[in-house]
Amino acid sequence: PRPEDHVIVLFGATGDLARRKLLPGLYHLARAGLMPAGYRVIGSAPAAGAPDAEGFRAHARRAVAEFGRSKPEGPAWEEFERALSFGTADPGDTGPLAAAVQEAERALGGSPRRLFHLAVPPAAFPAVVGELGASGLADGGRLIVEKPFGTDLPTARALDETIHAVFDESRVFRIDHFLGKESVDNILALRFANGLFEPVWNRNHISHVQIDVPEKLTIEGRAGFFEGTGTFRDMIVTHLFQILGFVAMEPPATLTARALRAEKDKVFQSMRPLDPAHVVRGQYEGYRAEPGVAPDSDTETFAALRVEIDNWRWAGVPFYLRSGKALAEGRHVVTLGFREPALRMFPRDVPDTANELVIDFDDPGRITARFLAKEPGPEMRLGAAAMVFAYSDCFTTAHALEGYERLILDAMLGDQSLFTSADGVERLWEASAPLLENPPPAEPYARGSWGPDRVHRLIAPYRWCLPEGG
Ligand code: BG6
Repeated sequence: PRPEDHVIVLFGATGDLARRKLLPGLYHLARAGLMPAGYRVIGSAPAAGAPDAEGFRAHARRAVAEFGRSKPEGPAWEEFERALSFGTADPGDTGPLAAAVQEAERALGGSPRRLFHLAVPPAAFPAVVGELGASGLADGGRLIVEKPFGTDLPTARALDETIHAVFDESRVFRIDHFLGKESVDNILALRFANGLFEPVWNRNHISHVQIDVPEKLTIEGRAGFFEGTGTFRDMIVTHLFQILGFVAMEPPATLTARALRAEKDKVFQSMRPLDPAHVVRGQYEGYRAEPGVAPDSDTETFAALRVEIDNWRWAGVPFYLRSGKALAEGRHVVTLGFREPALRMFPRDVPDTANELVIDFDDPGRITARFLAKEPGPEMRLGAAAMVFAYSDCFTTAHALEGYERLILDAMLGDQSLFTSADGVERLWEASAPLLENPPPAEPYARGSWGPDRVHRLIAPYRWCLPEGG
C-alpha cells in the first residue's frame, strides 16, 4: 500500500541524523516509488543560522550526494527537490514553520497527513512537542521521536506525559532504527515460520545468548550528544534491548502491532533489574582528549552486561550484551549457544565454537549454523563445520530498505509494529535503575581492542563469539 498524502516536518533538519540518514532515506523512498502520491518535506530548525528553502535544498543535495544510494540528479531528484521547503521554529515563535506547513497543504490540496520527525537532541523534545501542541500544528498529525527516550524512568515518564498531552499513543512513533533492519525483522520469520528452529528456542536447548554490536567508529565529533548519553543509553537500553525483545518474545497471537508490541513488552517485564556487578563499563583511551569531552569525563564508550529473564522460556539462560566505540570490528551479531547433548561419546578436543546459531544482522545479513562433523579419515574425529545462509545468495536485495527508510514508511502508513511503546520503554528504564544509580567506574581500553579485559570474565564459562576464530 502507498501512504496517504503527507506533509513531513523534519526538526533538526540541518543536523547529523538528517544529513546521514533521513534526507537520503526520504529520497530513496521517493525513487523506490514508496512515497505518497503527494508529499512535501519541510525542514525546520531554530532561526539562528538556519538556511532558507534554497539553502536547505542545497544542503539536502549535498547530504544525498555524500550518503545516499543514488545520486541527486535527473528528473527523480528534481521532483524530490521541488517537494523540499523550510520553516524556522523557535520557542514562542513557530510562525514561519506554520506558514510553510499551510503553504505545503495548499499546494497538495485535500487534507494531507502531518508527520513530525524530532531529529533533535533529547533535551529539546519537550519544548518542541509543547510548541506543536500550543500552535495547533499537531492536530491530527503523527510524531516520530528519536532515541534515547528520556535518560531514566522519571524523565521518560515525564516525556510520555508531555507527549500524551498533545499526541495520543496511537500517533506516537518512538523510532529505533535497529528494528527496521531487514535481518532483525527476519528473526521473527526465522523463529516462528520454521519447525526446525521454533522447538529448540528455549532454556531446554539454549545455554546462553549473546547480542554483540561492536563499532569501529569513535564518537565522530558527536561529543555534544555523546557526553550526556554514553553507550548504555545510546545503544544498550535502546537498540540491544529491542533486539533482545525479538529474540526472547513468545509467539504473538497475530502479527498485528498490538500483539507484537505486547509480547515484546512482556519480555521487558520479566527482565530482572540490572545488577551493576554484572556490568562492565569502559572508555576508549584518548576519549577525554576528543574535542568537547570533559578532561575527567566518566561517560562510557563501551558497555557489556549480563541480563536475566525470569520467565518460563528463559529462566537460567543468561543474555550477554556488548557494544562499544573504537573496537576492533564493526559487527551486528546475535549468537545462540546450544547445550551439549546429554552424553559425550566423542573425544573432547573439539572446538568450543560449535553448536551455535549466529545471526549477523549487518545489511544485508547472514545466518550461520555452526556444528560438529566427522572429519574424513579412519578415525572418529570431530571438526567444526558450518552451514551459511547469506541473504544475497537466496534473494535479490534490490528492494531492501534501510532501517530508517522502512520505519519512516511504516510511520506514514500508521503501522506501529516496529516502534517501541511507552510501557516498554518505561519498563526498560525501570529495570536499568540499579545500574544508573550505581554505575561501576568506566575502565580504560585500547582502541582497536574488544573492550576492557573484564569483559571476558563477565561471560565465563562461555566465550564471546567475536572475534571469529579468536
Ligand atoms: C545510533 C547511535 O543510534 O546507532 C550511534 O546513536 C551508532 O552512536 C549507530 O553509531 C549505529 O547504527 P548502525 O545501524 O550503523 O549500526
